Amino acid sequence: MARVELKNLRKEFDRGTIVAVDDVSVEIEDEEFITVVGPSGCGKTTTLRMVAGLERPTSGSVIIGDEDVTDIHAKNRDIAMVFQNYALYPHKTVMDNMEFGLRMSTDLTEEERKEKVRWAAEMMGIESLLEDTPDELSGGQKQRVALGRAIVRDPEVFLFDEPLSNLDAKLRTLMRTEVQRLQNELGVTSIYVTHDQEEAMTMGDRILILRDGKKQQIGAPKEVYNNPANEFVGGFIGSPSMNFIDVVIEQTDDGMILAGTDDEFRYNIGPDAIDNFGVLQSGGEYILGIRPEDVFPAEPTDQNTVDALVEVVEPIGSDNYLYLDLSGELDEGITRDEDEPDFIARVDTDFEPEIGDHVEITFSDPDLHLFDPATGESVLYDKNQGKTGGVATKSGAADD
Ligand SMILES: Nc1ncnc2c1ncn2[C@@H]1O[C@H](COP(=O)(O)OP(=O)(O)OP(=O)(O)O)[C@@H](O)[C@H]1O
Ligand SMILES: [Mg+2]
Repeated sequence: MARVELKNLRKEFDRGTIVAVDDVSVEIEDEEFITVVGPSGCGKTTTLRMVAGLERPTSGSVIIGDEDVTDIHAKNRDIAMVFQNYALYPHKTVMDNMEFGLRMSTDLTEEERKEKVRWAAEMMGIESLLEDTPDELSGGQKQRVALGRAIVRDPEVFLFDEPLSNLDAKLRTLMRTEVQRLQNELGVTSIYVTHDQEEAMTMGDRILILRDGKKQQIGAPKEVYNNPANEFVGGFIGSPSMNFIDVVIEQTDDGMILAGTDDEFRYNIGPDAIDNFGVLQSGGEYILGIRPEDVFPAEPTDQNTVDALVEVVEPIGSDNYLYLDLSGELDEGITRDEDEPDFIARVDTDFEPEIGDHVEITFSDPDLHLFDPATGESVLYDKNQGKTGGVATKSGAADD
């Protein structure tokens, strides 16, 4: 078992014209399960391959345990990697596939190796497949073999590169639990790459979000969900995505109003919340972020409400998604405007307005996120201390 540290990792391709990974630093604790998530091409695989030793960093270093392994060959690093495409030898039996790495990297006897393979096969529930070849197996079975081959090596670190992407949704959910159980039982430090934010959120002790090769944020799933460091993280984590509205601050006698610059949106920040929003400047422009699940139908007693037109009602079983128009041009037809960004509310199934209805919605102030339009950075978030002001109490201590 081992801690893993990435120090200012950078990887350039094609003589520096492509920067795949840009100054990424992360400290991963012993036995920790880190998920790495981000859009296609953001540098996830390249980062993992540098940890594995399959790619040499342009600069920066990789530390496993107490050892700087940056210049150490992949086969001499104590890691096991699992790939999306399984990477099994098609003509070798499952037994031979799983035993192969041991034969190369250890001096165990044949019987000892077979014993280890049987142990790993039992853990993965594939004892009965040991004499089969991969082309006789289903995708799920192949992935079990690939996982079995990784655990048989008893490595210090597991690296996973989208290992479940080729499986159907149901099997993927099942295998997620399997991978977590394995990691828990074996206590092996793990780095798990996925482009699926839900997978990243459910599996990781902490989640690392990358974009264009750069680290955006790392933290516990709840922390990145509650306190996204920037607009990108706010929009990337959570489904449906966070709603964004351009606003300008208007100072009033008893507080501040967030006024939409394109929409008839006016939301009065309650006096109780002013402390949290103390950094805001009157006249300042911000991007307001509100998650669909943080939008509520207003009660008659609610003071701060926003008028919205219902364009689409989408029942998903557990909740209803409402596609709302906040533009204020409420009479100009009720069909959904494809060019306007949707404002989505996720509400209880018993709130079921008709298309074309006006509804009054409201929010809870701690659920409001504000981002600087120039940099995208959260203005209520302080990288070193989590959030500034009272908003930090919402999710407890930040662990960045
Ligand atoms: N060997 C290479 N030569 C040139 N460019 C490369 C090479 N490998 C990766 N890249 C580029 O580096 C960037 C990061 O690629 P990487 O494969 O790490 O992304 P990723 O996050 O794993 O994407 P995906 O989700 O599609 O797997 C991309 O722009 C990619 O085109
Ligand atoms: Mg990749």
